[in-house]
Amino acid sequence: MPSLRLLAVSAAFLGLYFVLRLELHTGAKTAIQKHAPGLLSVLNSPVTTEQGTQQVFTSSSRQPFTRHIVAVGDLHGDILNAQTVLQFSGVVDAFGNWTGDADFFVQTGDIIDRGDDTIKLFSWMEQLRVQAAATGGVVLSHLGNHEVMNAIGDWRYVYPSEINTFGSVAARQKMISTGRIGRAWAQNYTATSRLPLHPHLGDPNTPFPPEDHPVYFRREDDPDDDDSLYYDAKEPLSHSALSFVHGGLSPTYGNLAPFPTKINDLASSFLHKLQHRAQPPPHPPHKYPGLPQGTTREEAELYDANGPFWYRGWATDSDAKVCVDVEKVLARTGTRRMIMGHTPDFTGIVSRCNGKIIIIDTGISHAYGGALSALSIHYTFTPVGENEQGEPIWTEREVVSALYVDRQDIIVDEERQAVGDFRMV
Ligand SMILES: *[C@@H]1O[C@H](CO)[C@@H](O)[C@H](O)[C@H]1NC(C)=O
Ligand SMILES: *[C@@H]1O[C@H](CO)[C@@H](O)[C@H](O)[C@H]1NC(C)=O
Repeated sequence: MPSLRLLAVSAAFLGLYFVLRLELHTGAKTAIQKHAPGLLSVLNSPVTTEQGTQQVFTSSSRQPFTRHIVAVGDLHGDILNAQTVLQFSGVVDAFGNWTGDADFFVQTGDIIDRGDDTIKLFSWMEQLRVQAAATGGVVLSHLGNHEVMNAIGDWRYVYPSEINTFGSVAARQKMISTGRIGRAWAQNYTATSRLPLHPHLGDPNTPFPPEDHPVYFRREDDPDDDDSLYYDAKEPLSHSALSFVHGGLSPTYGNLAPFPTKINDLASSFLHKLQHRAQPPPHPPHKYPGLPQGTTREEAELYDANGPFWYRGWATDSDAKVCVDVEKVLARTGTRRMIMGHTPDFTGIVSRCNGKIIIIDTGISHAYGGALSALSIHYTFTPVGENEQGEPIWTEREVVSALYVDRQDIIVDEERQAVGDFRMV
């Protein structure tokens, strides 16, 4: 019975959750935290003289670990539907405050346009970011093509009633460039992100391949490029991570690696140029302003149809093509699944190639009237014993679900085994 199974799974997670909370409360933080930089390399060479390494793998590092991630796609100016979605996915309470149920809340861009609630939504995201941090949670925010369009002065999808919420065109230009909203984009939004499922891989957006670990990974420009070599046999968790982006990470996009830093650096310099030019009169009625003087070729490619803000191939190409191409991008970005918005399916979240491609734009805004949805990922890492060499064996499990107002569909329920000692905080 699926519903019974669901209940059992939820109960198990609840149990794990409390185990984890208990662990955090006992404050059993190991020396590992202080040694965080360079730890990956330490782990790869068990014999080391670095002081404190002995304490790293005490029995407390063999506790189960859980991580709960909730991701939501295009919100397009509708705070009521956004509240509904964040509430039924457990991210916020009925008052819109962070609950602490999720460790990570991810929004994949396109908060602006097609609705009136721009100011409210961006303010709310900053409020949640602060509330999340107070409970050890993280909000990951992404720029969509619509945020960038607005920064360019391409206001084709701006409602006149929305401009009224700013007071005037000039006030809106200011707020999204050097004002409150524009500064939030510059400081707290990225074009893409790499979110580790396991803390062994470091904080969100730790670059892949790791700088201190070049041996097992081929360089992007290697003429004998063999994608399988991006999977590192010596590092079983090397790809235990997810990517998030608004449009998509095209297999032919030239700046995937190091991921996500290369893309995010380009987006940051591009946004800076947009926000710090004299704001052009908005299009329409004025002519399309184009990209700023001094935009580099790489920045222009970032914003073109094959770039991460606009790419639609993962939604529109055949299974035969995408299920081959996806392996290459996952290998290069050090991830197991790619999650994106931008191309709506009004009936629900789309999973392709066994959940390696997940598209979460379901037209949540009343502008579309699509399904109200959120993606939920429960990751658990559980010790299940030792092998003959005395090395710990773990079960790594990912349960990925699509949540709706009235139901939950399990998209992926996968288990793997990993052997070794892993950094747990
Ligand atoms: C929500 O959080 C705000 C602080 O941002 C606080 O003032 C308010 O009391 C909270 N509301 C509830 C119902 O917890
Ligand atoms: C960015 O987020 C931090 C919290 O992480 C917050 O203190 C800061 O005000 C935000 N920046 C803007 C411009 O909203």
